[in-house]
Amino acid sequence: MSRSIPQMNTLKLIFLGAPGAGKGTQAKILSEKSGLAHISSGDLFRQAASSGTELGRLAKSYMEKGLLVPDEVTIRLILERISSLSPGQGFILDGFPRTKPQAEALEREVEIDRAVYLKVPKEELIRRLSSRWICQNCQTPYNLLSHPPKVAGRCDLCGGELYQREDDREETVRRRIEVYLEQTAPLLDFYARKGKLLEVDGGKGEVEVTADLLCALKKL
Ligand code: AP5
Repeated sequence: MSRSIPQMNTLKLIFLGAPGAGKGTQAKILSEKSGLAHISSGDLFRQAASSGTELGRLAKSYMEKGLLVPDEVTIRLILERISSLSPGQGFILDGFPRTKPQAEALEREVEIDRAVYLKVPKEELIRRLSSRWICQNCQTPYNLLSHPPKVAGRCDLCGGELYQREDDREETVRRRIEVYLEQTAPLLDFYARKGKLLEVDGGKGEVEVTADLLCALKKL
């Protein structure tokens, strides 16, 4: 693990962006560099689905159609996860909030420092998701075009098996992007009006995006 950046480990950040924008990739890197907790709503739902819990079965029925899991369930899950952190521990919310009611519920509980928006053109999102593979074990994302694993089908970090997400089929990806534009994109304005939006060009290469992100966060 890289040396942590102590002045960043109390930040409370949201990562916003369309499916495939690189939220998970950058959240994982930043969490390792800064000591921030990485809370991914999608990963929590996928873990619940693979454990076969009631929450998991419910989440799966929405995720496989590219639709959002109902607000009530999602809000409870994420707020519980935040309240389980040690006092003062900063975090990155990756994939939450995604609707206005979620953003309002979060605001009632926590004051966030910045909503980081990773901006990426639509054609690039589809290209990235159709070539994404993920570690079954530690959830590290790979990309056959931009970031292939050193050994085909195996995670560089833990050796876990790589798999493709069911909702990365092209038709479901297009539905997820529509849902993002309808329900999540309005949050950009919600956070801009509060002076909290931080836009980063997510269309650049992975390393450059991390550098731009760190540079912007160090100025806070
Ligand atoms: P979730 O898992 O959050 O999916 P998503 O938002 O659709 O985002 P992705 O994980 O697809 O993309 P990402 O932005 O993290 O990109 P990544 O870094 O992997 O949610 C899944 C489902 O769960 C939802 O559809 C919904 O059903 C449910 N859900 C989750 N949260 C919810 C909520 N709050 N409310 C209700 N329902 C919710 O990168 C993608 C690919 O690109 C990878 O292959 C990566 O290697 C590559 N890549 C990354 N960065 C770059 C780069 N700079 N250049 C080139 N390639 C790159």
